[in-house]
Amino acid sequence: MPSIGFRLNGVETEVDADPDRSLLDILRGPLHMTGPHFGCGANECGACNVIVGNHAVAACDTPLWSVADKDITTIEGLGSAERPHPLQRAFIAEQALQCGYCVSGILMSAAALLRRNPSPTGEDVKGALDRNLCRCGSHNRMVRAVLRAAAEMAAPQ
Ligand code: FES
Ligand code: FES
Repeated sequence: MPSIGFRLNGVETEVDADPDRSLLDILRGPLHMTGPHFGCGANECGACNVIVGNHAVAACDTPLWSVADKDITTIEGLGSAERPHPLQRAFIAEQALQCGYCVSGILMSAAALLRRNPSPTGEDVKGALDRNLCRCGSHNRMVRAVLRAAAEMAAPQ
């Protein structure tokens, strides 16, 4: 089995696996990163989103071979209970977290947006989250939360 290497949440990582397996399978299986969730399995819902480079991608639809030598960030690398990312604090402050199943993918789409565009407009946020399905009706709160996090990150420390 070929060995494929990449940086996962800043850590050099190697896996021996079929290069055609999905990144989601590898993350949730041998790498024990269970933050990215399996929803549709067809690049339709965003529950499995992770960041590759500066872009959110659906890990369910990303073959392992395509991430060789890339930087991958999962929700585990975004923040922790002890040191939450500003996005995580903002989602709590705006009460934008509902089901907990889709939200890790939503946070990764938002985090990728803020990497590329630290001062997004509401329309930018809506565009970035457009492919993340959410049935609970928290969309407006999520947009407010992303804008809140962007403002916090831009403020002098
Ligand atoms: S599980 Fe990957 S997009 Fe839905
Ligand atoms: S937060 Fe998961 S359905 Fe809305």
